[in-house]
Amino acid sequence: MVGNEGRAINVALLGCGVVGSQVVRLLTEQADELAARVGAPVHLVGIAVRRPQRHADVPADLLTTDAAGLVARDDVDIVVELVGGIEPVRGLLLTALKNGKSVVSANKALLAEDGAALAAAADESGADLYYEASVAGAIPLLRPIQQSLAGDRIRRIAGIVNGTTNFILSAMATSGANYTEALEEAGRLGYAEADPTADVDGYDAASKAAILASLAFHTRVTADDVYREGIRDVSAADIAAAKALGCTVKLLAICEQVDGGRGERSDGKSYVTARVHPAMIPRSHPLASVSGAYNAVFIEAAAAGQLMFYGQGAGGPETASAVLGDLVAAARNRVIGGRGPRDSAHAHLPVLTMGETRTRYHVALDVTDRAGVLAQVAGVFADHDVSIATVRQEGRGQNGGDADDGVPNTRDATLVIVTHSATDAALASTVEALTGLDAVRGVAGVLRVEGLGRPVTELGGAS
Ligand SMILES: NC(=O)c1ccc[n+]([C@@H]2O[C@H](COP(=O)([O-])OP(=O)(O)OC[C@H]3O[C@@H](n4cnc5c(N)ncnc54)[C@H](OP(=O)(O)O)[C@@H]3O)[C@@H](O)[C@H]2O)c1
Repeated sequence: MVGNEGRAINVALLGCGVVGSQVVRLLTEQADELAARVGAPVHLVGIAVRRPQRHADVPADLLTTDAAGLVARDDVDIVVELVGGIEPVRGLLLTALKNGKSVVSANKALLAEDGAALAAAADESGADLYYEASVAGAIPLLRPIQQSLAGDRIRRIAGIVNGTTNFILSAMATSGANYTEALEEAGRLGYAEADPTADVDGYDAASKAAILASLAFHTRVTADDVYREGIRDVSAADIAAAKALGCTVKLLAICEQVDGGRGERSDGKSYVTARVHPAMIPRSHPLASVSGAYNAVFIEAAAAGQLMFYGQGAGGPETASAVLGDLVAAARNRVIGGRGPRDSAHAHLPVLTMGETRTRYHVALDVTDRAGVLAQVAGVFADHDVSIATVRQEGRGQNGGDADDGVPNTRDATLVIVTHSATDAALASTVEALTGLDAVRGVAGVLRVEGLGRPVTELGGAS
């Protein structure tokens, strides 16, 4: 690619909402500084929106409803996409990349669904494809994974990558509110959308997990590969149970490279796991103190050890900061006539199913308090190859008749069991078998427990 020294770099913006309007502001307010950093002026030459009448604050001559026409303009060097969703954006960005225009996007849904096609189009024409803002808003994360850690081996990424759910779980932990009350509070304060499905059911975090796993393990992982469980079923009792164990409950996106085993069998190969679900983590872990709408991502690498990235995961100016970082990088590459590092997907590691993925579990059982019940319950765990780390019994009082009416007196108890690491499939069949025991009145709660590289001594055994 021949350099562009001296000539202005022309930028087309698709979308001018929460993030796009802040990109326009920063491009305007910091024009001189950006030109100095890039080595050429950066000109905004057009802004595509749906409803131009709503954008009185941007120059009218820049506005258009013809996004395809804007992207096709010969004088456009870089397309910044801040519309979101899959169509029509996918077609617009593929066209732009095929025509050699670099693309900067914050669109996690599209990158997680079709990142491979976008990367292939960028490779074909030698254009840049950057999407730092698609995961964890303002937090510099994708560039450190792709570039700073390029010589290391990432073993695990565990992240709080959705501010809405972290706000809700934090509110439940601090005030004792139940899920519905905490969701209502999040809505009132502007942290939850009118339809919170994408956040509370884990779709947003699953897209981000797919992007993180793809970059960390040099393997294409799509949102469909990611196991997903949201926070709707997290109860106030789960939060209290976590507290009693020295833990807190977080919605985590966890991506791991697992060497040498698929489920119980060791086959010497490497696999990737990618999952989103609520989990208990020790309160001593740095992720446990990330509260409110903040995001944080904890990375474990073979040589670097443990790293944590923390900050604002959303918001107009915050996300625009990450977009501008990408824009400056893409513009600099245009000026010098090169391109940035391409996505590498050379490892082609298979993705384990959730059933094959190993973790630890907290299981609370309502049982009849009589001799032999504990042994029966322990037997079911052993039959399914799930090893128990700790058991705690809490008496809950009288149940059934009284002493004089001839009805046998029974007492209820809650058994709280924390397991060692087991496959999800083994735990699921254990729980199913437990519900068939006479003495088990109900399964009060099952939550995964993640030590995340620290010994969880309070729970028994290593992580
Ligand atoms: N908001 C955040 O904090 C945040 C954080 C991280 C990443 N992101 C990502 O950033 C992207 C933008 O988010 P946002 O919050 O800024 O969205 P937003 O406020 O809803 O803005 C979307 C913009 O896209 C325009 N638009 C919609 N359909 C269009 C079409 N077919 N053609 C042209 N323009 C169209 C809208 O035009 P009108 O204004 O005329 O309706 C609006 O200006 C999304 O991918 C999102 O996931 C957002």
